Amino acid sequence: MNAPISFDHHTHAATAPLDQIDVSDPQIYFDDAWQPYFERLRRDDPVHYVKDSPYGPYWAITKYKDIIHLEVNHKSFSSSWELGGIRIEDIPSGYERPSFILLDPPDHDEQRLVVSPTVNPINLAKMETLIRERTGHVLEALPRGEEFNWVDRVSIELTSMMLCTLFDYPVEDRRQLVYWSEVVITDVNAPNALVRSEAERFAIQMEYTEHLNKLWEERAKLPPSFDIISILAHSDRMNQMSIRERMGILTLFLVGGNDTTRNSMSGGLWGLSQFPEQLQKLRANPALVTDTVPEIIRWQTPVIHMRRTALEDVEFGGKTIRKGDKVVVWYISGNRDHTAIDRPNEFIVDRRRPREHLSFGFGIHRCLGNRLAELQLKILWEEIVRRGIEIEVLGKPVYAYSNFLRGIKSLPVGWRHNSSPPALGSRRGAHHAVDGSAPRRHLFGTHRMTVGVHLRTVTKATDSASI
Ligand code: HEM
Repeated sequence: MNAPISFDHHTHAATAPLDQIDVSDPQIYFDDAWQPYFERLRRDDPVHYVKDSPYGPYWAITKYKDIIHLEVNHKSFSSSWELGGIRIEDIPSGYERPSFILLDPPDHDEQRLVVSPTVNPINLAKMETLIRERTGHVLEALPRGEEFNWVDRVSIELTSMMLCTLFDYPVEDRRQLVYWSEVVITDVNAPNALVRSEAERFAIQMEYTEHLNKLWEERAKLPPSFDIISILAHSDRMNQMSIRERMGILTLFLVGGNDTTRNSMSGGLWGLSQFPEQLQKLRANPALVTDTVPEIIRWQTPVIHMRRTALEDVEFGGKTIRKGDKVVVWYISGNRDHTAIDRPNEFIVDRRRPREHLSFGFGIHRCLGNRLAELQLKILWEEIVRRGIEIEVLGKPVYAYSNFLRGIKSLPVGWRHNSSPPALGSRRGAHHAVDGSAPRRHLFGTHRMTVGVHLRTVTKATDSASI
């Protein structure tokens, strides 16, 4: 469980001298206490220099417009792995694994072009039926009459199956992909870290790479297909890659295509449970799912930051950023900037221009899989609404100890007390509510649907183990 909040983050954020405000501390994300620090920085020092952090000195860019301004200027601000990469923590020496997210033009652009067909509109349309079927099965299989972890039963299940489709990987082995992905992102200093050193992490990543590399070699001999591994294997440009580069690109899709969407599935449920009147609106008008999805992604902000390295001296926000400086854009802050987003701390299902958030980044590295992520979330919420599923959130989310990915490790839920069972795709009907009462029959249709996500009074923080 998240540590008891014995430390008063609000007071500290409001009163500490500015030079002591360091938003790189994973504890503030673990405690879900990052908001006051960023409010202070946006107000008092939006281009903030941290002289001394566990990751060395860095600039914190916290306002929406500044983040965009910086990200579009890739000529002055590099993503290159050779300069340290895209995370506040430099890539540990000896463990580099380049991929196009860690490259600047022209190499970045060339490689991105090769893999982008995987998620083009034609392929997305082909995937839609499969995603909807799987979503239906996962929702139908949710346990009745007991508390369960939404993250494990829904978010991980759906996103790991999606990853299997992207890789054309055996779906029954999906949990192995989940494990590899978690090893890649775990903070080695986290209380419950899966690995305790970079060497250990690298060894497991190599195991993953060698496993997928076998598929790569096999697919090179087969006719081309739409999956990422086949596309890589049939590309003259990419098939020449060293094993380290293969590790890089396979890891990029492992984490990019999986963890971020998973956390949006969990964060969306949590967010709606916090704003019940918004939920009512969505319930009354299911067409609002289209606007709810980008709002979920903004509100959760699954990627907390990205880092760049200055290639030259640049005047920025009244400060001078020097060549070689580490510059960190905090999406989590930009998405809560009231000068760019109306009532940013509220979850609003019918926002005007809801896609104008920073969660997918900006500029040449803007998320390649953004439409796929939105599609998965849209189908999930359409199916929840359509089936009249009522889920009660029974405790707070347990957040990951990470300053990079805003992970939700667990979210305890159950069928809502006295709620109708869902009108299932199979419509076989006989399921029991969480209290064990007999199920009521439910009329199936697009109107007068009930959907519920309710937060029962939380009396204790959950102590669920991390997944
Ligand atoms: C809600 C879900 C997602 C979020 C919030 C997200 C977020 C991001 C962010 C912040 C970036 C970096 C942008 C930048 O540096 O400006 C990125 C890049 C990327 N994402 Fe996603 N992502 C999501 C889902 C996905 C999915 C499903 C895929 C799989 C197809 C994917 C694949 C990628 C790739 C390949 C890149 C590198 C793009 C480049 O460097 O040109 N992402 N994503």
